[in-house]
Amino acid sequence: MSDLLKVTIDGSSIEVPSGTTILQAARQLGRNYPPAMCYYSSLQNTGGKCRVCLVKVAQSSEANPRPMPKLVASCITRVEHGMVVENETNPEVLDARQGVVEFLLVNHPLDCPICDQAGECDLQNLSFEHGVESTRYEEGRREFNKIDIGPYVQLHMTRCILCYRCVYAAEQLTQKRVHGVLNRGDISEISTYIQESIDNEFSGNIIDVCPVGALTDKTYRFKQRVWFSKPFNAHRECSSCCGETVLWMKGDQIIRVTARKNKFGEVEKFICNTCRFEKRNQEDWQVEGPRPVDHESVISANKYELPVISPAVNVDAKFVSE
Ligand code: SF4
Ligand code: FES
Repeated sequence: MSDLLKVTIDGSSIEVPSGTTILQAARQLGRNYPPAMCYYSSLQNTGGKCRVCLVKVAQSSEANPRPMPKLVASCITRVEHGMVVENETNPEVLDARQGVVEFLLVNHPLDCPICDQAGECDLQNLSFEHGVESTRYEEGRREFNKIDIGPYVQLHMTRCILCYRCVYAAEQLTQKRVHGVLNRGDISEISTYIQESIDNEFSGNIIDVCPVGALTDKTYRFKQRVWFSKPFNAHRECSSCCGETVLWMKGDQIIRVTARKNKFGEVEKFICNTCRFEKRNQEDWQVEGPRPVDHESVISANKYELPVISPAVNVDAKFVSE
């Protein structure tokens, strides 16, 4: 008998190795996979915090055909042989996802027009797909001052959804983690230990893994809306990291450097602070060419030129100057 486990998600089947989660199997199927705000495939122990990836398990396994009584987080629930999962085909799942988005927005400010993450924000995309037009929330939102946590990163705690990705990134990519989630319940917050700052060589990666605009790049803040800049793949010889990055250009100026992300919005290879923050001259880089951008992404706006068709306008003669 094959060691592979068969799982059916929204009517499509796939065989996966033991230990694969429902979310990973859905991603392999490649379409309509559940969203994820806290799970990050290249960081261990992530997942299980945000609940946006909830799905219905309509059949637990071939041996146990009963459904699971509650919706489950697909990022931490492992596939069983013969499991049947409903994601977008189940209205209960979509209803729950809408509820989770509403919950995530209880404290998150709707400041997308001034947020650097706009256009690249998982919560913005999620709200667009599953959110509602108005809020039922009447209480005041949590308030925090912006905090500089190190030379390159500024924390906007009001936007944080407590996904813990930055905590796992710092724990697993750097020698000395100096920040974490302090307190519990509705007074939880991301913070550094008193008088510590985040200044190790891989600290900039916490900006890339943050799904919202809570951790901002101080060298890029308010410089540009992302859809007005153009991304280029580039690389350089680097003794600390792979040196493979994306240069975000405004004209011939490099206004931001980030790691490259895959189609799930996750960093492929983490990069060092020298590449990210200190190499802003074109001579520092070997530019490979324009980075392909998903046509549905707002980042592709302004990148493709369509023929301009002037509208036929009938102008009243009295408004035309001689
Ligand atoms: S700062 Fe960003 S990455 Fe860190 S917990 Fe908050 S939302 Fe997640
Ligand atoms: S992605 Fe599954 S709980 Fe956050």
